[in-house]
Amino acid sequence: DYTKDVEKLLKKMTLEEKVGQMTQFTSSSDVTGPTLRGNVEKDVKAGHVGSLFNAVSADYTRKLQKMAVEETRLGIPLLFGYDVIHGFKTIFPIPLGEASSFDLELMQDAARVAAEEASAAGIHWTFAPMVDVSRDPRWGRVMEGAGEDTYYNSEVAKARVKGFQGDDLAATNTVLACAKHFLAYGAPQGGRDYHTVDMSLQTLHDVYLPPFKACVDAGVETFMTSFNEINGTPSTANPYLFKDILRDQWDFEGVVVTDYTAINELIPHGIAGDLPTAGQLALNAGIDMDMEGDVFLSTLVQSVKDGKVSEKDIDHAVRRILLVKFKLGLFDDPYRYCDAEREKSVTLSQDFKNRARKAAQRSIVLLKNENQILPLTLNNTKKIALIGPLAKSKKDVLGGWKAKGSPKQAKSLFEGMKAATKDKAELLYAKGCKMSGADTTGFAEALEVAQQSDVVVLAIGEPRTISGEAKSRSDINIPGVQTELLAHLKQAGKPIVVVLMNGRPLTLEREDELADALLETWHLGTMAGPAIADVIFGKYNPSGKLPMSFPRNVGQIPIFYNAKNTGRPFDPEKPSGYKSNYLDVPNTPLYAFGYGLSYTEFAYGDIKLSAETMEDQPITASIEVTNTGDYDGEEVVQLYIQDLIGKSTRPLKEMKGFEKIFLKKGETKTVTFTIAKEALTYHRWDMSEGVEAGDFNVYIGTSSDNVKQASFKLTKDFEASKQYNP
Ligand code: IFM
Repeated sequence: DYTKDVEKLLKKMTLEEKVGQMTQFTSSSDVTGPTLRGNVEKDVKAGHVGSLFNAVSADYTRKLQKMAVEETRLGIPLLFGYDVIHGFKTIFPIPLGEASSFDLELMQDAARVAAEEASAAGIHWTFAPMVDVSRDPRWGRVMEGAGEDTYYNSEVAKARVKGFQGDDLAATNTVLACAKHFLAYGAPQGGRDYHTVDMSLQTLHDVYLPPFKACVDAGVETFMTSFNEINGTPSTANPYLFKDILRDQWDFEGVVVTDYTAINELIPHGIAGDLPTAGQLALNAGIDMDMEGDVFLSTLVQSVKDGKVSEKDIDHAVRRILLVKFKLGLFDDPYRYCDAEREKSVTLSQDFKNRARKAAQRSIVLLKNENQILPLTLNNTKKIALIGPLAKSKKDVLGGWKAKGSPKQAKSLFEGMKAATKDKAELLYAKGCKMSGADTTGFAEALEVAQQSDVVVLAIGEPRTISGEAKSRSDINIPGVQTELLAHLKQAGKPIVVVLMNGRPLTLEREDELADALLETWHLGTMAGPAIADVIFGKYNPSGKLPMSFPRNVGQIPIFYNAKNTGRPFDPEKPSGYKSNYLDVPNTPLYAFGYGLSYTEFAYGDIKLSAETMEDQPITASIEVTNTGDYDGEEVVQLYIQDLIGKSTRPLKEMKGFEKIFLKKGETKTVTFTIAKEALTYHRWDMSEGVEAGDFNVYIGTSSDNVKQASFKLTKDFEASKQYNP
């Protein structure tokens, strides 16, 4: 308990020093917005800074820390932050890709490795995980989360927080995690980054809040505000979010940092006319630290004097900031994380690379496999054509937010396949085209290479630079002439395996028609090439499932599996007019949430419920799953529930559980899920939370659109214990 230490230090601090602690500046040009300060070292020495981000190496952080400790009046150590999103130097798959693994231990491990590497470079704090539910693939930041489902996002959020923070914050190989972006940043209008969010409170509470609550339950130490407004109030100025929900409802005691210059942006948002007002709004909303904006530093002292904010609120913020510094052990030894020796020994270690390769294998989703073309067997495949602008790319595989990941360290698909085929098969290569533009001059050479080969592997998709922050697209086709290249190669008459590399769900109707096999590999990180080769040649049997629906075209967006039925549901078996459907495209996505194939096949038995009624006690739902195919493999068994009649309308299905199991060929396992009434509650019109007695469907299966069904009755209404009426 550091309360006494914090209070003792707080008493010694001047108002200026307090406001300095509430200020975070970037220390390099590695920025995502305007840099507002010229000389950060001068600021550190002047005691103007409590935290720096983008300073990344044991030596450099030590140098800056020395300035703070030795050259300021109170010697309060700095907190170093960085966007360690999917690895620091050993880069793991982009988070959306990794979420395709449906393997929570794996995701926790990836965060663990990232924390070990980053902390050795002096970093105390990562701005991750992003736990924004995202249902619009035009939004570039879908790459950074766990997709469209609330339950799944919550489970992944917990795993990632635990991975980053470990069991002991004071250990030098753990970092503070940051739940971001509070709130609903993943739902901007039109999928355009930073855009407006206008959403019912019910949806906010039922869909967007739970992953953040999961982070709090997992012990997350910090939160970040979101750039967007919700229903007219920008998050960074919203006391409902930070005071009512986060602090009062959830008892969160950690630090809230803004997103980059988000306080300044209250002016263009149109709720503050000047910076002092913006600063007052943010502080009064419950924000503790100003990222890069220089608003707290330049205005809060005067705002206290003017009686616009109270020093008490400032004290609360500073207490929380000092507390995390104590928890990290920085007052015992401010340099404990700046360990050049450890940095050298752990960074990019073989162990980390092996773990990254394992994560990459498990993040791959097999979307199509006509005639079991995959896996390729090197006994009868002697010449392989590897074609496409992404085949040799070492940059793009790193994905958005690559931190300090270097292309030099990354393995391309070409390198991965070369190593896997060695003396066993010949690997021919042609680029075919670029990732953008209309130039088709490389098509002829690519076709020749295809004609000489037994099979074509075509690597196409998005460059890493078009997903991530501020990378929204209105068209989510594969850019340039890459799909034309695929169509052109058909003339060779050889089977074509398309390896997709991309940072978001894409519209793939044409590719789905043209390709014999389709592998969704996302941007898999440092070990992308070997991991993809492992799957292509059957060393690893793919087990990934999509955490986001893939629309047929952009007009279907937003499209997600847990939609409502509407009053006029469309039945494709009995099409008739005046129903909720499009004239030119089915209502279904091309690939649904939870979809993904394996080289083997899984047969599901019937669902067995422990009881047909539920009163107070949970019931269980069991199902037998048998591997009926020719390979050992893993399956993600998925549980969904539908509340048939409620006081408010309920989604057609909601994920409430999943289990990833390994089955040897021929093996059968029984998977059992527990269903408790607490998992069935939702917010009604009056914002009361509960669930009414009535009928429920239980679905278990291999994807959200391929399930077995059973049903039970809830015999009693149930009200959640904490009722919250804003
Ligand atoms: O952490 C990020 C945030 O997610 C988006 N804006 C910039 C921040 C710091 O780089």
